[in-house]
Amino acid sequence: MASSSDLENIPSVDLMTELLRRMKCSTKPDKRLILVGPPGSGKGTQSPIIKDEYCLCHLATGDMLRAAAAAKTPLGLIAKEVMAKGELVSDELVVGIIDDAIKKPSCQKGFILDGFPRTVVQAEMLDQMLEKQGTKVDKVLNFEIDDSILEERITGRWIHPSSGRSYHTKFAPPKVPGVDDVTGEPLIQRKDDTAAVLKSRLEAFHKQTAPVIDYYSKKGVVAQLHAEKAPTEVTVEVQKVLSS
Ligand code: AP5
Repeated sequence: MASSSDLENIPSVDLMTELLRRMKCSTKPDKRLILVGPPGSGKGTQSPIIKDEYCLCHLATGDMLRAAAAAKTPLGLIAKEVMAKGELVSDELVVGIIDDAIKKPSCQKGFILDGFPRTVVQAEMLDQMLEKQGTKVDKVLNFEIDDSILEERITGRWIHPSSGRSYHTKFAPPKVPGVDDVTGEPLIQRKDDTAAVLKSRLEAFHKQTAPVIDYYSKKGVVAQLHAEKAPTEVTVEVQKVLSS
């Protein structure tokens, strides 16, 4: 817990902003959401919007694994090789990461799982984890989109590594090419964002992740989105689904 001397050093405007955010959040219903869709379907684009609206934590296993790889942790070094090939890392490894993460205070109002679960085994393990906490998944947002649209989205994507902000040369260009709008720092392209690796990622999606949608359909919690639409139109669909 922060001591009063820690708080003294935080500017008043920041404290007030945080206080107002917490007051707004206290009126929001708890939500436990899963975002499923192939690479480039827009999960990472919509997540920050949902996170801010409902005061949830955003847990993206891909981002967590890339951070572990950058930090050269033993887990990160294993994951790095697997991700570069567009294959899935082991179920035990990602489930362990999520189990730790959903217990954090920032997930108190619920969570957005982006890129997890990606196999039926992961889904079953998640459900067991939540059952122990007396909770369950409220909604699974299925980002439906034709594979043919994805190559252009994936190969045109640029990322600001430290914040995770994502741009696209055509669909969401930064103000200055190659530079983050907020910090002015350089943008990078992900190693797996090539047409060749996309093929393996799509194969993994159809073979291993599509069954996760069937798994949750049987529980009656899946909502379909038209992910081929423009980002603002997808946001409207998401808002409709979450307010119903
Ligand atoms: P991960 O990082 O999760 O990648 P992914 O699922 O392949 O998803 P992406 O981040 O590529 O796509 P997105 O849907 O977020 O698209 P975005 O919104 O950025 O996983 C990477 C790897 O980690 C995996 O291959 C695996 O090895 C490993 N991994 C992760 N989780 C795992 C797990 N649970 N189990 C095992 N292994 C795991 O959009 C893409 C681009 O399109 C952006 O540039 C954006 O600006 C643009 N865009 C977005 N929406 C629109 C729109 N509506 N119209 C036009 N452009 C749009």
